[in-house]
Amino acid sequence: PKMKEFSGINKLETALKEKLGVEYIIIVPGDSDRHEWIKYEMGKACVHYLKNILLPDSIIAVTGGTTIAAIADAMVPIHEENNYVFVPARGGIGEEVEHQANTIAAKMAHKTNGKYRMLFIPDILSEQSYETMMKEPSIHEILQQIKGANIVLHGIGNALTMAKRRNTPTETMEQLEKGNAVSEAFGYYFDDKGQIVHKIYKIGIQLDDLRDKNHVIAVAGGSSKAKAIASYFKKGKSNMLITDEAAASQLLRDS
Ligand code: G3H
Repeated sequence: PKMKEFSGINKLETALKEKLGVEYIIIVPGDSDRHEWIKYEMGKACVHYLKNILLPDSIIAVTGGTTIAAIADAMVPIHEENNYVFVPARGGIGEEVEHQANTIAAKMAHKTNGKYRMLFIPDILSEQSYETMMKEPSIHEILQQIKGANIVLHGIGNALTMAKRRNTPTETMEQLEKGNAVSEAFGYYFDDKGQIVHKIYKIGIQLDDLRDKNHVIAVAGGSSKAKAIASYFKKGKSNMLITDEAAASQLLRDS
């Protein structure tokens, strides 16, 4: 509609879409650095969007973090036929339980009346235990589901903030600093050109797997994440960004 074309948010969306080269953008008003509930607003926008793309037998893979957890809070029942399944995108990467992908997947399923599957894999595995676990039919089956997900919901974080939050070993911290890591998503750390500086070895969705997904939705806001969002989208394989006004304005100012 004409009215919206002239609104500030709409202009921001157009400008940011061009700048990041991303197919779809939704910007919600506010700054999630200053008001935690803006994450919930991004969550509501995400749920609204999911309603349009979710098919009864969709598989939705989710990452961890406070933003994706806020999407779970905003979830509502989506379809009558509840055959869709929520799964964690990758094994746990040192988050608190309520912000772990497993927990978030279960909560989303609960709130939408959908189903969920969890991935129980310890953070650190010897190669031998890894091989053994992969042979477990239940693990093998859920991994197939994760790889086959057609919708992926993920957060983007500031590299060093995320590394500290995950109690990253000193030598990796040094590697991230030396490599000028700016952003983090899916356990991958990227510099300002979008090059991978470091990757946490985890089973589940790998960056290359995103290529053949129909919908890869990044959700990240707050002006403190502007540089991280820009960094991730340099080579990011996500086709949608849900963010807030503060991150969007800062990102456009940065350049
Ligand atoms: O991978 C990125 C992080 O999960 C983002 O976490 O939403 O708590 O900032 P956050």
